[in-house]
Amino acid sequence: MNTPAKHPTLFLIKTLAGLLFVGISSLALAETKKVATPMPEWDSVQLQAALSKAASGNAEEGKRLNHYLYCSACHGDNGNSPSRNWPSLTGQKPDYVMKTLLDYKRDMRRDHYRKAYVMTRMSQLLSEQQMADLATYYAQQPAPVVPPQTNLKLAKQGANLANQGDDKRGISACTTCHGEQGESGITPETPALAGQTPEYFIQAMQMYKAGMRTSDVGGVMRMFAKGLTTSEITALAHYYASLGSKRNMQ
Ligand code: HEC
Ligand code: HEC
Repeated sequence: MNTPAKHPTLFLIKTLAGLLFVGISSLALAETKKVATPMPEWDSVQLQAALSKAASGNAEEGKRLNHYLYCSACHGDNGNSPSRNWPSLTGQKPDYVMKTLLDYKRDMRRDHYRKAYVMTRMSQLLSEQQMADLATYYAQQPAPVVPPQTNLKLAKQGANLANQGDDKRGISACTTCHGEQGESGITPETPALAGQTPEYFIQAMQMYKAGMRTSDVGGVMRMFAKGLTTSEITALAHYYASLGSKRNMQ
């Protein structure tokens, strides 16, 4: 008796409810699938093998590629970014720059603003030899000086945390790995931070915090970033930006 013809409204309600249920479950599935996409991680032996090419870079070829592949459009004529929107690439050891390009190629760096996506696409164009050439070229250029507007009051607050860390929260002093003046670190794959644009610095820390950047071997930066508040990250960003000009005077 309970046929669609006799109870068209009930039939419609049931059908709609069914469709809604299917819709919600497939949305939920899609969401789970998105969240579950595994973020790749480095194993340190694999990383050292991949970085062994960094030493064979040709700076002349790197200079040519910086222009030819339009890297210079965002990162500047010599890798020292003219705009606060893009990170500077100078002042780094070649291993770190080579590593970041491999990180992008392996999809270890994602972000909420699709800025990293540009680099994920760009890195797919590059051979490992070209990555080494670019890295060698940038490493030979002077360390970056961040375009003005660094907040010196914030920089002072950031200096304490950078030099001392916070034992209670298990945050090591940033200086232990990134150098006394952010001049780069204890290993060739530890980046320099001095003179980096605050906008980029903050974004990098937020992405570690959100687990969207998994390029840090052993999750060290993800661990430190999780413990820091947004205002502490901002203070650290201004401190490291302020160190740029000091480095070039040395
Ligand atoms: C359209 C602008 C744009 C172009 C063109 C571009 N980049 Fe980038 N690059 C970015 C942005 C934005 C980031 C930061 C993304 C993020 O948050 O991970 C970045 C990050 C990087 C980094 C990592 C920096 C770090 O400290 O971790 C390297 C290395 C780099 N780019 C090299 C290159 C090279 C080499 C090319 C040319 C083949 C290139 N980029 C072309 C915008 C650009
Ligand atoms: C145990 C060593 C260690 C300590 C301590 C440490 N870092 Fe790092 N940091 C690293 C390494 C290694 C990387 C590179 C990771 C990668 O390739 O993603 C890095 C990357 C970064 C980056 C990304 C730079 C870029 O160009 O993308 C920022 C920003 C940063 N660290 C800030 C800090 C701050 C701020 C502190 C202190 C609160 C700190 N780090 C403490 C080792 C350390």
